[in-house]
Amino acid sequence: MTESIQVRNVGIIGGGLMGTGIAEVTALAGYPTTVVKATPGDPSGALDRIKRSMDRRVERGKLDAADATAALSRIECTADRSALAGADLVIESIVEDLQVKRALFADLDARCTSDAVFASNTSTLRIADIVGDGSDRRDRTIGLHFFSPVPAMSLVELAHLPHTDPRVLAGAEAFIGALGKTAVPVLDSTGFVVNRLLVPYLIGAIAAYQQGLARPDQIDTAMKLGCGHPLGPLALSDLIGLDVVYAMSKLLYRDFGESRYQPPALLRRLVQNGHLGKKSGLGFYDYSHKPAVANDTIWDLVRAGALRESVG
Ligand code: NAI
Repeated sequence: MTESIQVRNVGIIGGGLMGTGIAEVTALAGYPTTVVKATPGDPSGALDRIKRSMDRRVERGKLDAADATAALSRIECTADRSALAGADLVIESIVEDLQVKRALFADLDARCTSDAVFASNTSTLRIADIVGDGSDRRDRTIGLHFFSPVPAMSLVELAHLPHTDPRVLAGAEAFIGALGKTAVPVLDSTGFVVNRLLVPYLIGAIAAYQQGLARPDQIDTAMKLGCGHPLGPLALSDLIGLDVVYAMSKLLYRDFGESRYQPPALLRRLVQNGHLGKKSGLGFYDYSHKPAVANDTIWDLVRAGALRESVG
C-alpha cells in the first residue's frame, strides 16, 4: 500500500463563494481551518458567509446545531498570509486568472514549509501552468476541484501531473474521503473532465437564449423535465457565476480552438456589465425577487434581436 501524506490542518486562500464553501466542509470534518482573504479588506465577511450557510443548513435540518458551533470554532479568518505558514495543505480558491494565481503560488511558496501540499480549486486552468516549470513544489501541487454548492456536491476532481508524488495523491484521496466526498483522479488538463463536458452545454443554452428560442425559465424547465436535471443550464450558470463561466469558456476555446467553447456575446455583455448571476443579484434571473424571476432587461434585448448570432 502507498504511504500517504497526512493532512492535519488546512489553509484556504480566497474567501469567496468557493473558498468559504470549502472551509465549511473542512471545519465540519474536524480540520482546523485557516481562511485567508486574498484581497485587502476586512476578512470577517468570510466567516459571516460560512456562518450564514451553516445556519441555513441547520434550519433545513441538514446540519446539527452543535456540530455547526464546533465547526465554527475551528475556523480562523484573517487577511494575513503568514497564518498559512503551518498548514499541511493549502487550497487556493481565488479569481480564475492564471497570472494572479501564479503570483499567489510563488508568494505562498516562500511562506509555507517545503512539506506543505499546494492545491488549486481552479475550474479550468492547468495545474502545470499555475505551478510553473521551475518550482520545487511540482511533485506536491495538485488540483482539488470542488463543485458548488460545496456542502451539497459530493465530487472532487483530483488533478495530478505526471510527476505528482504518489504519497501526495494517496493523502489527498484520503482527505477528500474524510470530507465525505468522492475523489475522481484526472490527469491535469484544461477543464479536467466535468468542465470540458459541461461548459459547451452551458454556453449552448446561453446561445439558444441569445437566439430567442425561449425565455430563460422555459429553457431551464425544458432541460429539467426533459433530461431529469435538478437545475436548468441558465440557473446553473447564474449559480456558478457568469464571470467564472465566461473565464472557463475563453480558456477552453483558447486551448482547444473548438467553436463549441466559444463564449456567446450575451455572456460577455452580462459579465462586462457586472451581472455575474446569483452572487451579484442579477444574471439570467433577477434575484431581488423571491423566488427569482427572469431578468426582463435581457429578455427584451433578446426579443428585439439585438444579440442574435453574435459571439464574444
Ligand atoms: P468568487 O468571485 O466568489 O471569489 C473569488 C475570490 O478571489 C474572492 O475572495 C476575491 O477576493 C479573490 N480575488 C479577486 N481578485 C483577486 C486578485 N486580483 N488577487 C487575489 N484574489 C483575488 O469566485 P469563486 O466562485 O469562489 O471562484 C474561486 C475559484 O474557484 C476560481 O478559480 C473558480 O474558477 C473556482 N471554482 C468556481 C466554482 C463555481 O461554481 N463558482 C466551482 C469550482 C471552482
